[in-house]
Amino acid sequence: MCGIVGYVGTRQAGPLLLDGLHRLEYRGYDSAGVAIQNGTGVQVMKLAGRVAALRTQLDGAPIAGTTGIAHTRWATHGAPTTRNAHPHSDCDGIIALVHNGIIENADALRAALEAQGHDFATDTDTETLAHLIEDAAGDTLEARVIAALTHVEGTYGLAVMSAAEPGKIVVARLGSPVLLGIGDDELFVASDASAVLEHTRSVVYLDDGDIAVLTPDGYHVLDRESHVQLREVDDVAWDLAQIELGGYPHFMLKEICEQADTVRATLRGRLIGERGTARLNGLNLTSEDCRAIRRVVIVACGTSWHSGLVGRELIEELAGLPVQVEYASEYRYRRILAEPGTLTIAISQSGETADTLEAMRAAKGVGSRVVGIVNVVGSTIARECQGGIYLHAGPEIGVASTKAFTSQIVALALLGLYLGRERGRLDEEAGRELVCRLIQLPQLITRTLEIERQVKALARRFASAPNFLYLGRGVNFPVALEGALKLKEISYIHAEGYPAAEMKHGPIALIDENMPVLFVAPKDHVYGKVCSNMQEVRARRGRIIAVTSEGNGDLSALVEEQLRVPATVPLLSPVLTIIPLQLLAYHIAVLRGCDVDRPRNLAKSVTVE
Ligand code: G6P
Repeated sequence: MCGIVGYVGTRQAGPLLLDGLHRLEYRGYDSAGVAIQNGTGVQVMKLAGRVAALRTQLDGAPIAGTTGIAHTRWATHGAPTTRNAHPHSDCDGIIALVHNGIIENADALRAALEAQGHDFATDTDTETLAHLIEDAAGDTLEARVIAALTHVEGTYGLAVMSAAEPGKIVVARLGSPVLLGIGDDELFVASDASAVLEHTRSVVYLDDGDIAVLTPDGYHVLDRESHVQLREVDDVAWDLAQIELGGYPHFMLKEICEQADTVRATLRGRLIGERGTARLNGLNLTSEDCRAIRRVVIVACGTSWHSGLVGRELIEELAGLPVQVEYASEYRYRRILAEPGTLTIAISQSGETADTLEAMRAAKGVGSRVVGIVNVVGSTIARECQGGIYLHAGPEIGVASTKAFTSQIVALALLGLYLGRERGRLDEEAGRELVCRLIQLPQLITRTLEIERQVKALARRFASAPNFLYLGRGVNFPVALEGALKLKEISYIHAEGYPAAEMKHGPIALIDENMPVLFVAPKDHVYGKVCSNMQEVRARRGRIIAVTSEGNGDLSALVEEQLRVPATVPLLSPVLTIIPLQLLAYHIAVLRGCDVDRPRNLAKSVTVE
């Protein structure tokens, strides 16, 4: 949510900042701006619109200078206009800063600053920071930033420059991710590693409360009392090819097509065939710990919440533990009952979603053990939980999550297998059978992807539909929810997911000859029941699309289109049944001319409440 980049070094900052913003555009893309120290002061250029437009403007009027900061915005306070775009300045244009996060007491601060004579140029909460720093006492920019931040309530990832201290960037972090990229004779600041990967793999993840000072001579990290802090330099495992399109028209399609490899990566080194179990050392759960668990609570948002619903079925079935799945945004504000033996699982692709992070902290606060299922290594959730499973799915750049979903389900299956074996719920033979089924998944995904041509033709028939209903049962009900979410996120078609049998209690009223109804119906113990639900839709002339598995038989008498995915055990079927739904949403969105990778109003990483 908002991307920030900064550069201090010997090269021209402008093009480097724009390249970094381009990589971070998935975090927000309603406006963008740069501030560069041009030898005489700090020069700002910003506009409402995309990073590409800013690049054109900067190419037309380059700003020379080797120190600068930049921002791509997802508006919270104030409309996405040029005026409200970052960087923001103080009254005299001496200070420029970019900010990710929310200043919660901005209204009170602004009123006080205006009363003292400060002129505000924007409607944003961020501008208060520039005026606070302008007024703050201190001999150095970092001292003034520290002093100013004592007045601030809220969250921030912040990069600040002052014309009075050329060649310096001061960075502050509280609740919004920021890292430093350490190059040869140059330093970067970025919201995430993809912005610096072209230049360096060495990064320093800042902790909450850290203040970093970057100059051409190097960097140091301070705490709020100005004591120097030691922070490790980490190595980023991602490579550049993973953040490039590689011949695909969109990241979303690339990421859908990558799923055989990404699921393989999630499984790599984690299956122990002969013992029919999983190796999950990072979980930090001994056999004794596993046996002491009495219940599981899953907290997540969006697509990760949907994978949590699949996880409930997996863990209940494999490990025999009751599982509660919670929207993180709701859970964090509820009375959380401290129950001994609770394992809380935070699921998050980015590892930065504010609500999931806070729900996890709240669970920790009442004494729950907390583990994470996270994709981004070094992210806040990954660092704050007591153990976990990394997805290793590589960077996910398309705003609509796809490959993270299938890897999350696979990670949850590994967790269910491990807990089931350690708790004695699953015998070795059942464990071995599941291991075999997991090993087969990448190959089955490759076969499932062969359906793309059929899905594309289907997309042409349904691209103008105003509504869609997605229905499924059991472990495939969350797939229906996820399919509907994908469609509405990127094509703006209204779509709802429902448990198939629950349809009778409301959505059936919507069904007529214009309503496409997509059933997720692989072969499992409720398949016959789902077919009865199809009959009910058919009787009302609804247009049925059915995702079934091989061996389900021919449904042509009942449905308009049947999409067949390979068969696997029902518990793992969501990894396959979701793929035609991802492809359908993608192709419909493309046909409708939508910006698939940057859908309106959304952001990839939601670091505000
Ligand atoms: C945003 C994204 C979704 C994502 C959700 C949770 O809404 O647009 O694609 O599922 O956040 O993100 P997380 O990184 O926590 O999985």
